[in-house]
Amino acid sequence: MTKDNSAAKETVTLTNNSTGKTIELPLLAGSVGPKVMDIRSLYSAQDIFTYDPGYMSTGSCKSAITYIDGDAGVLLHRGYPIDQLAEHGDYLEVAYAILKGELPNPAQKAKFVNDVTRHSMVHEQINFFFRGFRRDSHPMAVLCGVVGAMAAFYHDSIDINDPHHRMIASYRLIAKMPTVVAWTYKYAMGQPFIYPKNNMGYAENFLHMMFATPCEEYKVSPVLSRAMDRILILHADHEQNASTSTVRLAGSSGANPFACIAAGIASLWGPAHGGANEAVLSMLHEIGSVDRIPEFIAKAKDKDDPFRLMGFGHRVYKNYDPRAKIMQKTCHDVLNELGVHDEPLLKLAIELERIALSDPYFVERKLFPNVDFYSGIIFRAMGIPTSMFTSLFALARTVGWIAQWNEMLTDPDQKIGRPRQLYVGAPKREYVPLHQRA
Ligand code: SDX
Repeated sequence: MTKDNSAAKETVTLTNNSTGKTIELPLLAGSVGPKVMDIRSLYSAQDIFTYDPGYMSTGSCKSAITYIDGDAGVLLHRGYPIDQLAEHGDYLEVAYAILKGELPNPAQKAKFVNDVTRHSMVHEQINFFFRGFRRDSHPMAVLCGVVGAMAAFYHDSIDINDPHHRMIASYRLIAKMPTVVAWTYKYAMGQPFIYPKNNMGYAENFLHMMFATPCEEYKVSPVLSRAMDRILILHADHEQNASTSTVRLAGSSGANPFACIAAGIASLWGPAHGGANEAVLSMLHEIGSVDRIPEFIAKAKDKDDPFRLMGFGHRVYKNYDPRAKIMQKTCHDVLNELGVHDEPLLKLAIELERIALSDPYFVERKLFPNVDFYSGIIFRAMGIPTSMFTSLFALARTVGWIAQWNEMLTDPDQKIGRPRQLYVGAPKREYVPLHQRA
């Protein structure tokens, strides 16, 4: 069970030196991690706002789903360490825990797997949405459009105040994302859509829909489906990151779950967030060889150069991203399974990591490889095109987004998200008729 000490009586005293007024603000404690200063009464009491672009020091909600200790490089889902989940669990088991709070018992797991498996088909009309896109559309553009359009199909599960509707929509999204993501790839390739098969596991089914054709039997390698399943676990949820916060903010207005997840997909697409896995591959190709690494390290350090070392750094982790370590091991497993022993991009990535982690600029700023640094190399080795990398991230993150969306809607503290601002524009002034303007 989670521990919510938000009724604790510790306080923080703030004194506004410009008015001499002080205010006692409650200090709330969670089960682990930093306490939070509850500033909800600040504006009404002191007529001032807080200012925190990028939310560097701001907690937006209470949550019991995921906890990150950035200094220790620890990631817990419902209290379970990510390395144990990745080693011993499978994606649907982890998805159950993220969605419902506890790891499933055998009967619960069997039912969840059965329910998700039998929701993996999409309405046949959705098939026609793809045809509105050019074949060379970015898969994230197609995914954003098709997932948002799902709201037009599943009217029987978009009453956000009905817990049963919320759970049906949650299952539908978890179940259908592999199908829609695989179909964005098939559409781009000009190949026919492959339908999900109920006798396959979640990751196996996805890889089958990605790479099978109607012409012949396609057997998914058990090593590759296990690797894909593990990669999905590593991307499942991650506290209040940009895309999850987007889903929560969209959901706070009462928007339907499909529209909220489409908003999360849009936010994840950015290269500073989920788009980084695609950007890492482009960066490695641009660097090209080990002897050019110093040139790019210098660019990354140059304040006048917008170039950043993609796959490095993180708002929360000031230690190695625990997911990156597991990803690096999975990378070796996949390349060994595929008999790829001299993958030049992997060698380049390992050398880039070694050089960066010995450079004071990166050491001082605690910039370590994050989850996106190695994932692209694995996906590429599996035959997945770079343009599909972020869509796979979205596939995996759907359970995190939808769990956070459910948690937000059942939080008694929940209100529509409506931040304030520090206004720096023109004070009030009179309208000037056109003929009087210079
Ligand atoms: C994900 O939030 C999540 O949990 C996200 C995620 C998830 O699972 O949801 O973990 C997934 O998005 C991982 C991050 C993927 N993005 C990248 O790999 C892109 C490259 N990384 C950077 O853009 C950056 O590190 C961020 C966006 C990830 C974090 O940026 P912050 O926290 O706003 O940090 P910052 O920009 O304030 O940087 C602090 C300093 C700055 O230098 P100074 O001004 O102090 O001199 O570090 C520098 C930055 O210039 N810096 C980098 C750098 N990242 C930060 N310099 C070079 N290369 C980098 N990658």
